[in-house]
Amino acid sequence: MDAILTTHIAAVAFWFGLVGAEFVIERSRTESQSHGFAVTKNHYYIDLFFEMPTFIIVLVTGTILLVETTLTNLLMVKVGAGLIAVISNFICLYPVIKRKLAADKEDLKAVKAYSRQIDRISVFALPAGFLALIIGVII
Ligand code: HEM
Repeated sequence: MDAILTTHIAAVAFWFGLVGAEFVIERSRTESQSHGFAVTKNHYYIDLFFEMPTFIIVLVTGTILLVETTLTNLLMVKVGAGLIAVISNFICLYPVIKRKLAADKEDLKAVKAYSRQIDRISVFALPAGFLALIIGVII
């Protein structure tokens, strides 16, 4: 298998692992105020040191593959869905960073508001990512 395609698929797999871990820690954020603040920090470090580098690899390898490949309708839908997932994750960095800063100041109201933003962005990112994965597996 082509090294770029292998890297693309490995990064996609790693990314889904991260998203799963984030989903689990986010669900526990209402357990207590101190636990909620800890969740904001854990999500922040996962995003900055693992998720952002991973989705950059997915984007760069996907773009290289795109240049080498003949574009079919199905592949166009996959690339579109993949781009929505990548862009949503990029946009999500903003509330994740702002929420961590709010937690540092123990500003619970702001933490809750940024958590809702993160949830709303995930509603776009997750189905788009799954669609890209399903089409990627089919083609
Ligand atoms: C969540 C995001 C994404 C997922 C889950 C995903 C998944 C996959 C998978 C599983 C494959 C393997 C297909 C095969 O077996 O040949 C693949 C291939 C590919 N991906 Fe992605 N991908 C994502 C994002 C992107 C992005 C953002 C781009 C473009 C900028 C892209 C472009 C491509 C291209 C061009 C191929 C090669 C298709 C072929 O030649 O058969 N992908 N992707």
